[in-house]
Amino acid sequence: MNKKFLAGEKFVSQAYIDSEEKYKKMYAESLDNPDGFWGKIAEEFVWSKKWDSVLSEEDFVEGKVKWFSGAELNITVNCLDRYLEEKGDKMAYIWEGNGSGAEGAGRAEGAEGAEGAEGQEAVIRFTYKQVYEEVCKYGNFLRDFGVKKGDKICFYAPMIPETIFLLLACARIGAIHNVIFGGYSGKSIQERAEDCSARFVVTANEGLRGKKKIPLKEAVDEALSEGCNSVEKVLVIRRTDAEVKMKEGRDVWLDEVVKDEYAGDCEPEIMKAEDPLFILYTSGSTGKPKGVLHTCGGYMVYAATTLKYAFDVKDDDVFWCTADIGWITGHSYIVYGPLLSGTTSVIFEGVLTYPDAGRSWDMVERHKVSIFYTAPTLIRVLQKEGDDFPNGKDLSSLRLLGSVGEPINPDPWLWYYNVVGKGECPVVDTYWQTETGGFVIMPFPAAYPIKPGSAGRPFFGIEPVLLDNEGKEINESEGNGRLMIKRSWPGMMRGVYGNANKFKEKYFSRFPGYYETGDGARRDKDGDFWISGRIDDVLSVAGHRLGTAEIENVLVSHETVVEAAVVGVPDEIKGESIYAFVVMGNPSTSSGPSGSGTSGTSGGSGKSGTIEKELKDYVAEEIGHVAKPSVIRVVSGLPKTRSGKIMRRILKKIVRGESEDLGDISALANPEVLEELV
Ligand code: WTA
Repeated sequence: MNKKFLAGEKFVSQAYIDSEEKYKKMYAESLDNPDGFWGKIAEEFVWSKKWDSVLSEEDFVEGKVKWFSGAELNITVNCLDRYLEEKGDKMAYIWEGNGSGAEGAGRAEGAEGAEGAEGQEAVIRFTYKQVYEEVCKYGNFLRDFGVKKGDKICFYAPMIPETIFLLLACARIGAIHNVIFGGYSGKSIQERAEDCSARFVVTANEGLRGKKKIPLKEAVDEALSEGCNSVEKVLVIRRTDAEVKMKEGRDVWLDEVVKDEYAGDCEPEIMKAEDPLFILYTSGSTGKPKGVLHTCGGYMVYAATTLKYAFDVKDDDVFWCTADIGWITGHSYIVYGPLLSGTTSVIFEGVLTYPDAGRSWDMVERHKVSIFYTAPTLIRVLQKEGDDFPNGKDLSSLRLLGSVGEPINPDPWLWYYNVVGKGECPVVDTYWQTETGGFVIMPFPAAYPIKPGSAGRPFFGIEPVLLDNEGKEINESEGNGRLMIKRSWPGMMRGVYGNANKFKEKYFSRFPGYYETGDGARRDKDGDFWISGRIDDVLSVAGHRLGTAEIENVLVSHETVVEAAVVGVPDEIKGESIYAFVVMGNPSTSSGPSGSGTSGTSGGSGKSGTIEKELKDYVAEEIGHVAKPSVIRVVSGLPKTRSGKIMRRILKKIVRGESEDLGDISALANPEVLEELV
């Protein structure tokens, strides 16, 4: 695929970065003079106190950096207060509910009510002033409820206005939010709430996603049923009529405690630039998820700046990011980035395939979305449903299409470009991570031609390098290696919550002097990057990030399993799906039909079919349905090195049908297992 695309004249004529020279100049300045570059951008924000220095890179190698040291601010003042005078009546959020009109009606006071005839989606619009008022109201309430600066609040809540306002209210009063994706299980909530010693949990009685009702409160109850002693109160948003158990003294309905008396301004808590803003747990290559910590000043500047330049956001844009707030994409590009940019954005509660695969295009038409940002896994799903869905709608408001989460293959890229964008909207593939806070590599379509499948070139301030197998920098223009970043940028994570050494250990120790992304990449002669995906043991399943070790640990904790190895298999829609090899224990020690496991078959029938289902469900219960393996294959042994390490490389080849060429197997201590596996 050598085709290149340059944005059309109309796009170029109005773009912030409208020529290659401009990109090069700004990029060079961002590296040569980071203080000047970021200092100038930061001047556009409201600070209670200016910084003593822009960047104090005390010791990047140790994972110690500070941006805007000495400065003080509140991010919500920058999201809301600063727009009140000039843009108070401008639409900030257009929220659309999952289902029919009635479900969304009258859900937020002060907002324009649900619109449209019966059967249409409920839509609630909030101006900047209304969002300000809602956030102040919830901020006043939270303070009164006993929430203090520095307290940790877990969110396990749906994509509804109350959730967004409560998140912003946390930031308003200096509380630290920790959002847990609704696809995780009670056990996972417990782990995260315990790890960050949360004092409060915000949830809803139920969530609505397509035809499904998600029992959110029930999962929270399970999480708190043992342990989690730090949690004092649970705030329950009433999303549906469903009755749920409320624990006396602990659980409170939000609508019963947030009264009119909380209306009015809410004094923002003045935060130091390096005070924590939020924690977000993400999967790594080993064991338990890590609490990635982001701080107020640098994150704010970076989230806003990446959105502005990468998506060329202008005052009259309508931006729709389809992510969930349970992921970093939702934090940076639903909650904070759009408000910081003063733009109008869409928040959607449901799923893009409900009631049918035309939902996104219908919403684009109705809300006149101009910038649409989604994930390759969804693009592939929608592509499969055929062109009639997008062709049946007026998509002429669109001017830029974004992608995130995994490499986007050229075929869906071209479909997105041609069928959705009608050949007029550049596709901007954004490469980044929970840890980076915002985009790190993405193309500027008005500056240089974009290539389907390539994430383009580094964003301002990002210095990516490729390392070869020996850990040496590849300095020729073309190369293929480990993707590392050589210096800090404002939005980078500041640490792993509760573990001072872990940041250095996980990201800086294998190749000192660099931040390790964990991804592999190729750089072509134009300097464009092609991300090949994780080289560590992290999977991306439908854009959700999962550690193989996390899933293996759960499998092994099942009474029937003694050993497990998890690998990713390429999947046409999900990008990758989970394939687990398990070795069963002595059948007599376990109940159930596990005895069949030792037979070493991979079949899905008879007794072994039952244990396979049981193990799949077990993983879903322990981590969440996002982690459910597609295949459980019972085997009698796993390929190992002499030192006992599982050779996942071999398993990967086997599941990809590449058994003919297993590569170098001289390190394999038990070659006899190959016969069964292959
Ligand atoms: C992968 C999501 C290729 C990558 C924002 C990274 C991508 C991991 C892309 C981070 C992309 C994300 N092209 N790969 N455009 N975007 N990734 O933390 O492997 O959930 O390391 O952040 O997703 O996932 P995370």
